[in-house]
Amino acid sequence: MQRINASIGFDRKLWREDIQGSRAHAAMLASQGIISSSDEAEIARGLTLIETEIAEGRFEFKTELEDIHMNVEARLAELIGPAAGRLHTARSRNDQVATDFKLWVRNALGRLDSDIKALQAALIDQAEKHASTIMPGFTHLQLAQPITFGHHLLAYVEMLGRDRSRVTDAHRRAEDCPLGAAALAGSPYPIDRRSTASALGFSRPSANSIDAVSDRDFALDYLATAAILTVHLSRLAEELVLWSSDQFAFVRLSDGFTTGSSIMPQKRNPDAAELVRAKTGRVIGDLNALLIALKGLPLAYSKDMQEDKEPVFDTEDTLALALAAMTCMVADMKVNADSMRRAADRGYVTATDLADWLVRTLGLPFREAHHVSGSLVKRAEARGVQLYDLSLDEFRAVHTKIDERVLAVLTVEASVASRTSEGGTSPDRVREAVSAAKARFL
Ligand code: ARG
Repeated sequence: MQRINASIGFDRKLWREDIQGSRAHAAMLASQGIISSSDEAEIARGLTLIETEIAEGRFEFKTELEDIHMNVEARLAELIGPAAGRLHTARSRNDQVATDFKLWVRNALGRLDSDIKALQAALIDQAEKHASTIMPGFTHLQLAQPITFGHHLLAYVEMLGRDRSRVTDAHRRAEDCPLGAAALAGSPYPIDRRSTASALGFSRPSANSIDAVSDRDFALDYLATAAILTVHLSRLAEELVLWSSDQFAFVRLSDGFTTGSSIMPQKRNPDAAELVRAKTGRVIGDLNALLIALKGLPLAYSKDMQEDKEPVFDTEDTLALALAAMTCMVADMKVNADSMRRAADRGYVTATDLADWLVRTLGLPFREAHHVSGSLVKRAEARGVQLYDLSLDEFRAVHTKIDERVLAVLTVEASVASRTSEGGTSPDRVREAVSAAKARFL
């Protein structure tokens, strides 16, 4: 029973929040005249001693005391004697654990936000350096149109920006303080829930005592936010894996984030990126684990809810590592601009630019222009050359009105420079987007 029942093995992580919650509770009990101020002073003194013991690794956590709440309370009794017995007045472990865990998750959201921000900063920095570096843009992983590498990186900055807004939302939805809900029905003592809520940094006490002890939405919000974030990280990780392969050779990851092979001396394996990609499964698994644990639970507290903590702790550790690895990989990667440009300048990537030129300069309907451009691509293909290698006579053989101005739009540089619409890939737009992203996110 002890082994299945105890949570101290993992909920010891909540020690700071548990002590903080007890301090606020005891202070409120004293100012409401529920306990004496001398008892409160003793409780506060004892809690500070325990805080030091735990911080210095001198505290003995006991499995037979089940969880962090009872471990702290039992030690308090050893340290200060009978006054310790008054701390649990007008409180239950049900509102206590909900409060401690919610405080912890709120802090974790703050850490997550700054870790995501650090990755955004690394991406923005590279985007600024590569505002005009040309790379192939893909759809279906087929060569589509030339883009700038900076523009591509800023797409991830946007994704991460939405992740941070989910972090903010999750924090905003976790403003109700459960403390004072007691076991589930509220308390017969004249407690002041507003003072404990504000002492702990919450905006208000939770409105319904039953909901207060049954609610783990704050943990689900955290995990759901994390799950979407890891999907984003996995996409970037996958691109790093592709880009750093010999076939692409767009970037070179630093030695620190690659490993060699035990038998193939030439190998540089992007292990860190692969692991970030894989950890997505684990974080989505954490979200699933908690959703399933809570599904169908009757109100109010059931012991099932003790299973809420490990998935959240696992996700925090996983994300802290994945984000740190990503940030360093992005900051350290060396971009091979030549090979990116070479890869972009193939496969008739400016065929759309040619069609657009026919529309804008010769007034052709887009459908006809598309057809003319397609015929020219076939000619070039038959000769094994690029569009800009065709002679003016060859262009005219397909459409008589084409003149030498067409040559100016067929290079990849001209193509990206022309994409000046808002949010587009032209180097000028990307430089603008870099400054805007700095203002919005950093
Ligand atoms: N260790 C428990 C948990 O983490 C604390 C709350 C226990 N409450 C109870 N009535 N047994 O959920």
